[in-house]
Amino acid sequence: MTGNDILLWDETLFKDLSVLEPDYLPEYFPHRDSQLNALRFALKPALRGMRPLNCLMVGPPGTGKTSAIMKVFKEIEAHAPGVVAVKVNCQIDSTRFAVMSRIYRQLFGISPPNSGIAFRKLFEAVVNFLISSEKVLVVALDDLNYLCCEGHANEVMYSLLRAHEQYPGAKIGVIGIVNDASDLYCLDSRVNSVFLPEEISFPRYEEAELLDILKDRVRYGFYPKVVSGEVLELIVSYVEKTGDLRVGIDLLRRSGFNAERRGSRMILLGDVEKAYEASKLLHLCRGISLLSDPEKQLLELIAKKDETKAGELYKSFHELTQLGYTRFYGMVNRLQMLNYVDADFTGKGKRGRTRIIKTKYEAADILNCLKKA
Ligand SMILES: Nc1ncnc2c1ncn2[C@@H]1O[C@H](COP(=O)(O)OP(=O)(O)O)[C@@H](O)[C@H]1O
Ligand SMILES: [Mg+2]
Repeated sequence: MTGNDILLWDETLFKDLSVLEPDYLPEYFPHRDSQLNALRFALKPALRGMRPLNCLMVGPPGTGKTSAIMKVFKEIEAHAPGVVAVKVNCQIDSTRFAVMSRIYRQLFGISPPNSGIAFRKLFEAVVNFLISSEKVLVVALDDLNYLCCEGHANEVMYSLLRAHEQYPGAKIGVIGIVNDASDLYCLDSRVNSVFLPEEISFPRYEEAELLDILKDRVRYGFYPKVVSGEVLELIVSYVEKTGDLRVGIDLLRRSGFNAERRGSRMILLGDVEKAYEASKLLHLCRGISLLSDPEKQLLELIAKKDETKAGELYKSFHELTQLGYTRFYGMVNRLQMLNYVDADFTGKGKRGRTRIIKTKYEAADILNCLKKA
């Protein structure tokens, strides 16, 4: 090896590490033009002082939903002074009060008085401000399923969606963001009768799209020749398993650190393989953290056994949650669709075909993620 192959102590492989941070909003955002345009179209009335169309963005983790709404909100900020766009991360602001406080803070630039003020009062302050300033409010509720317990989602949605009826002159649009349409199970009929959103779907990226997007990150994130074509292909093949781009960006970063640790000027396949060991749980844990509480309980029951018959599983699940068969059946199908469990029929049951349910990942990995979720 010549001296040139070895990294000096103050040298790095990363040209710009921030490009590989999870919350980086890239300039180049391809393969989502139709989704971005659908969003722009729905929000267009707001630019003319009218109530926008409500939207529902649906797609699995790592398909660009959060980034897409950030992009469009940035455009609004730059071009539409009469519109206030607020993105709420419901994983962080997970109560009706926290959501409304977030909106309040963005409108007034200060936190609401936190002692003893009711949700309703806070909401009225927001609405009165909108009416007197003649501004239109657009609220994106990101990972909305986190608001589902204890009726938080219902009250927030109901208030925002019906504001124009209760307070003439109030103009509010709501954008829900979820992984799966079934995440809306918690909305009651009062909300469903007024929430008839434009659905905007975010499908998994295909291999060529993943490669295109990751190439761009490599170009801005690393110095030339650090990431070979072969290395990038291996990373894409790992990402393909889940379609979650977050995994790809995380792998680039970790592989780079692994190569630096060896003092090498290039990432080798071994650096990627090692990084994958550390990062493969990232997607699983994130996906599991997004499940509803009863889905988590069901997954835990499944992971604690090698395999269970559907009937027995339902009995334990019902004892634990009091939920009925229809909900149970829907959740098993969803866990199967998300690839966490296998639920195949066997020919062996007493009355013919029985469904045998088991996890598709190492049970220990699933239980570990559940502990963190
Ligand atoms: N079309 C795209 N072009 C470039 N980067 C993307 C694209 N879609 C997603 N990403 C990146 O992938 C990661 C996950 O995207 P994110 O918007 O958080 O997905 P979601 O909200 O659907 O889980 C982010 O780092 C984001 O920058
Ligand atoms: Mg997101």
